[in-house]
Amino acid sequence: MNEYDSARMAGILAELGYAQADAPDEADLILLNTCSVREHAAHKVYSYVGALKPLKERKPHLIIGVGGCLAQQEGQRLLKGIPHLDLVFGTDALDSLPELLADAARGRRRSHTPRPRTVGIPVLRRGLKPGLKAMVTVMQGCDNFCSYCVVPYVRGRERSRPAPEIMEEVAALAQAGAREITLLGQNVNSYRDAESRLDFPGLLARIASVPGLWRLRFTTSHPKDLSPRLIEVMASEEKVMEQLHLPVQSGSDRVLAAMKRGYDRGRYLAKVEAIRERLPDLALGSDIIVGFPGESQADFEESLSLLSLVGFDFLFSFKYSDRPHAKASKLKNKLSEEVKARRLNALQARQREISLAIHRQQVGRVEEVLVEGPAKKGQGRLAGRSRAGRTVNFAGPDELVGGLVQVAITEGLVNSLKGRLCQL
Ligand code: 5AD
Ligand code: SF4
Repeated sequence: MNEYDSARMAGILAELGYAQADAPDEADLILLNTCSVREHAAHKVYSYVGALKPLKERKPHLIIGVGGCLAQQEGQRLLKGIPHLDLVFGTDALDSLPELLADAARGRRRSHTPRPRTVGIPVLRRGLKPGLKAMVTVMQGCDNFCSYCVVPYVRGRERSRPAPEIMEEVAALAQAGAREITLLGQNVNSYRDAESRLDFPGLLARIASVPGLWRLRFTTSHPKDLSPRLIEVMASEEKVMEQLHLPVQSGSDRVLAAMKRGYDRGRYLAKVEAIRERLPDLALGSDIIVGFPGESQADFEESLSLLSLVGFDFLFSFKYSDRPHAKASKLKNKLSEEVKARRLNALQARQREISLAIHRQQVGRVEEVLVEGPAKKGQGRLAGRSRAGRTVNFAGPDELVGGLVQVAITEGLVNSLKGRLCQL
């Protein structure tokens, strides 16, 4: 969501005639887009913007702005705390950027953080040409109020974009060259078109029919809302990739209840089983929080054992941190940083073993890969993604970039696969 908003900002700025600078000290405008889902956002902003002070002194016309969730949360406080900051804009203030920048240029310091809208999501401006891959927001906000989470407060309540507007944006992106689209929403399964009552599986199927589009992914799905119909659409639509992000957050029933997730371990596992039955090649990913208040060693071990039981293909894991407004921040029995760090390390070590084992099992398979560009390590190597979303590196000529190829997998590493291009 944050990346998507950054792309929208870049689009708006391009329309105003801005071009991207290569380094901060060459810029006339520096905007920070912030995320406050986890801790340290405030600290990072103060230290980053603080470090820009000498630059601002050398270059008084430089405009520095902070946007996103932290801006939404802190508003005026940021302007007060950082005297050389020109502008603060909230999560729903992107459309006002042109006006805010004009004010900043006249020396008027402003914080603009309107309450997140209850309806309507502004469309991506098309000041920039999309790349091979693009993102499209289908819904925003969240009504779940998990006890640790700040999202419902900074992003507001759930609201869906009208289906015709989404279809128009997807068609325009495909026509401009985007081949893979990722649909975004805090909980995509709550999508509902107000007019036609189209739901998320219906929307997915409709988008899959857009000509020129090859691949569709989406994120994120709340386990309690994942429906059999979605699984059916995933299984039957060739363009919907075999990848699903299904955040479990904990393997312990006690912790899941305290988190207010609306499912228990057994129900989560039953969903996983149902999905895998229809989609045996699915890559399944998850999020886990360690060190939720009151999490015992036994609770934590339930998260560890869940990793092994499910065998997630990818995992994002985090140390619990207090968030403003979130109910869990009022709970007692907070865990020490040390315990949280130890648990996180143990969890990540287990996940690395699992990822490596899964990746090694891929050896010998032939995968369809969308070629994205040169591999990070270069040397005539290309990198792309398999249908399941795994990074595949292989040797091949540059003209393959932007196309689909078949690659035989020869080696599995922790974070990627190596392969050999199949002759066509
Ligand atoms: N502390 C730690 N992790 C959190 N997440 C959300 N809120 C918190 C918090 N207070 C994690 C969840 C979520 C992901 C986006 O961030 O795992 O799925
Ligand atoms: Fe936060 Fe829970 Fe909503 Fe996800 S479902 S955004 S964790 S409140």
